[in-house]
Amino acid sequence: MTLPAQKTPVLDVRPAEFSDGPAIVDMWMTLQRQIDSYPPATFGAADETAQLEKFVTMLEHSMEMESSLILVTTLDDQPVGTLSIYITERSGYADPETALLVSVWVDAEQRRLGIARKMLEMARRWATSQGVISLQVGWHPGNKEADAFWKAQGFTGYEVIAAQRLD
Ligand SMILES: CC(C)(COP(=O)(O)OP(=O)(O)OC[C@H]1O[C@@H](n2cnc3c(N)ncnc32)[C@H](O)[C@@H]1OP(=O)(O)O)[C@@H](O)C(=O)NCCC(=O)NCCS
Repeated sequence: MTLPAQKTPVLDVRPAEFSDGPAIVDMWMTLQRQIDSYPPATFGAADETAQLEKFVTMLEHSMEMESSLILVTTLDDQPVGTLSIYITERSGYADPETALLVSVWVDAEQRRLGIARKMLEMARRWATSQGVISLQVGWHPGNKEADAFWKAQGFTGYEVIAAQRLD
C-alpha cells in the first residue's frame, strides 16, 4: 500500500494586501485582549466595539502611508502572524531616524517556528532601505513570551512605562 505523499506546508511572509484586512484586524483584537488581560487595567474595561473600529481605521491608514509597513505571514494561505512597523523621529539626537514595531502576533499553534523572527527580518530590511537607524518596541513586563522574543532578537530595555489611576 502506498501512502499519499505529504504536502510540505508553504510559509509566506509578505506585505499585507487589502484582502488580508479582516484576518489582520482579528489578530490585532486577539493581541489586544491579551494586553488588556494584564494588570493594572488603568483605562477600565475594554470596549471591544470601539477597539475594533479603531483598528479598522488604523489599518486603512497604515496601508496607505509610505512610512509604515504591515506584514502578514500565511501558512498554506491561512494568515498565522502579523507585524507592523511605523517610521518616526526621535528628534534631538544625532540619529533621529527610528521606527516603532507594534502589533506583533503569531498564532499560538505556530509559535517557536521562527515566524516572528522572519517578519522582524523583513521589517529590518525594509526599515534599513528607508534610512532608519534604530527600532523600538514595547511590551508588558508580564508578557514572558514577548520578553524572551525581543531579548533574543537583541533589543535592550531603555524605558519603563508606568500607570496610576486617580480615582
Ligand atoms: C512573542 C511572539 C510574537 C513570538 O513569536 P514566535 O514566532 O513564536 O517567535 P520565534 O519562533 O520567531 O522565536 C525566535 C526566538 O525568540 C525566542 N523566543 C520566542 N518565544 C519564546 C518563548 N515563549 N520562550 C522563550 N524564548 C522564546 C527564542 O530565542 C526563539 O528562538 P528558538 O525558538 O530557536 O529558541 C509570540 O509568542 C506571540 O505571538 N505571542 C503573543 C502575542 C505577543 O505577546 N506579541 C508581542 C507583543 S510585543
